Amino acid sequence: MSNSFDHQKYILTTTRLGLRQMTMDDLNFVAKMLACADVMQYYPQVYNREEAAEWLERQLVRYREDGHGLWLVEDRYTGEPIGQVGVIIQQVEEQPIVEVGYLIDQPFWQKGYAIEAASACKEYAFSQLHAKVVHSLIRPANIPSQRVALRNGMKPIRLVTFKNLDHLLFGTCSERICIEQ
Ligand SMILES: CC(C)(COP(=O)(O)OP(=O)(O)OC[C@H]1O[C@@H](n2cnc3c(N)ncnc32)[C@H](O)[C@@H]1OP(=O)(O)O)[C@@H](O)C(=O)NCCC(=O)NCCS
Repeated sequence: MSNSFDHQKYILTTTRLGLRQMTMDDLNFVAKMLACADVMQYYPQVYNREEAAEWLERQLVRYREDGHGLWLVEDRYTGEPIGQVGVIIQQVEEQPIVEVGYLIDQPFWQKGYAIEAASACKEYAFSQLHAKVVHSLIRPANIPSQRVALRNGMKPIRLVTFKNLDHLLFGTCSERICIEQ
């Protein structure tokens, strides 16, 4: 495996991880993850390669239109791909929200990678995007994801319908806003 330690290519780095924009060259990894029944157990279905390519293309559109989206998370020292975590604009009840989203490849669960990357993304949303509130949208049955949100300083706010499915809306506000309120 090549040593890909390179600050230039990363939007965010953490102790163990680098987060960078994906390209269509990442399709093999993305397609493998989105075809995995464990990774996709709280989504309506697993994705075939064509659907994974469309999903990846949607992230590239987000980069162009919003300047951010789900990024590829890799081991910053080896370049090994680990998952996708990032900052996404979502429409909830016809209002835009800033969401930290995360998917980690199953072999890398239970190592703290999700919270490490999600916490960096939350800070990015506050400091770079000047978000007042940062959210995560999580299916009620997805306890591992809710644990990440709680560790990320978020609290459950209310149940919302998102993409025709019940989701718990988690959120936290920036320190400045919280102090002012
Ligand atoms: C949701 C998801 C990212 C959570 O992954 P995870 O591995 O449980 O979360 P983390 O990477 O933050 O790891 C935390 C766990 O690792 C443990 N851990 C081990 N080593 C650790 C370390 N060095 N640092 C921090 N935690 C560590 C923690 O104790 C914790 O376990 P616990 O939750 O049982 O207490 C993962 O289940 C996933 O990708 N699921 C499929 C996609 C999905 O549902 N995404 C969310 C949509 S809303």
